[in-house]
Amino acid sequence: MSIQRVTSKSRIRITISAPGDKSISHRAIMFGALASGVTEIEGFLPGEDCLSTIACFRKLGVDIAAAGDRVTVNGKGLWGLTAPGEDALDVGNSGTTMRLITGVLAGQSFDSRLTGDASIKKRPMKRVFDPLRLMGAKFSDHETAPFTICGRPLKGVSYTLIVASAQVKSAIILAALYAKGETIITESQPTRDHTEIMLKYFGADLKKDGRLISVKPVPRLYARKVQIPGDISSAAFFIALGLITPESEITVTGVGINPTRTGIIDAFISMGGRISITNRRTIDGEETADITARSSNLKGTDIYGAMIPRMIDEIPILAAAAAFAEGRTVIRDAEELKYKESNRIRAMAMELSKLGGQVSETPDGMIIEGGRPLFGTIVDSHGDHRIAMSLAIAACAISGDTFIKNSECVNISFSNFFELLKV
Ligand code: S3P
Repeated sequence: MSIQRVTSKSRIRITISAPGDKSISHRAIMFGALASGVTEIEGFLPGEDCLSTIACFRKLGVDIAAAGDRVTVNGKGLWGLTAPGEDALDVGNSGTTMRLITGVLAGQSFDSRLTGDASIKKRPMKRVFDPLRLMGAKFSDHETAPFTICGRPLKGVSYTLIVASAQVKSAIILAALYAKGETIITESQPTRDHTEIMLKYFGADLKKDGRLISVKPVPRLYARKVQIPGDISSAAFFIALGLITPESEITVTGVGINPTRTGIIDAFISMGGRISITNRRTIDGEETADITARSSNLKGTDIYGAMIPRMIDEIPILAAAAAFAEGRTVIRDAEELKYKESNRIRAMAMELSKLGGQVSETPDGMIIEGGRPLFGTIVDSHGDHRIAMSLAIAACAISGDTFIKNSECVNISFSNFFELLKV
């Protein structure tokens, strides 16, 4: 276990580039593996989660060469994956790998076994198994990892998503590539649409009409060059840092600003955050920009409904920033946070309270009474990268040193986070 010390800071004036987008990095490897030809990826996130995706596809017979943020995937074609052998595919801590690969493997002509770390073994799979079972898929009885996927011929279905989840949606879309006939998915609330954007770019027959997504099987996907934007979920920590530390101005360059991901920017602006977005450009269908955050007098806010899926991974950092805002922040409709790498509602309420924050858990979110004096102490990441980084950012704006236990989990998505924080 590593313990990271974080000291109080002010007058931070830096420009940094965000690490590659985690969601898009996973998808670039997967779709590259299923395409015909060589996919070249730039801006890949070499974090532990995305490396788990590479390791799984290598076990499925795909030749992948990775050097830092550049990756070359020698695609095997839609039907070219090979049985993984005796060992289970290990997804590590990565929920995205587990859910999406299940969609790919359900329609194969071989069986596969999936496992992962202690946190992944608690994460729900029924939400993925249920729609895939309607398509004809078969799984071992276990509704959490480890489980077996018994490859079967699949058929297209019409399915309305019960949970607002991009991972579940993506698993169905990937299974639909292997299904006979058309699959139609209805989203109850919009979630990140990187799968739809990138699969179309790779030549899939996928159409979107409002909340409806339809997918028809195609004989092949085509390898592409992929440029991955910076991850707004990682940028959010430094944007928050700029807002809550005195006399600061922080710019994060090349950040993906896909509207399904920018809820955190809207939330910070609604709190009075001084944020500017410049240098907008679109690469491979994904819009990117530079984002600058300046020290701000934040006010409490209410976050609920359709905002939640647009900032699902940023609620911990929003909660941390809310502890420095004047007044109350109420987060509702966020029960999904209980099923992430940790129970993020409980973890943030518990750890911010240790720092002196007044935070109460509710069944579907939390209430933060902002503006209380906070003091450095010992806190715990709960083994969750986003909890570790949210606490570290809060620690920069309070008096005294803070010690974060189990801080090594930042390697999941942002391995140089603590180096960048030494400003
Ligand atoms: C992700 C979707 C979200 C998010 C996760 C990455 C993705 O999960 O929390 O970090 O890449 O599709 P859900 O779809 O389960 O909400």
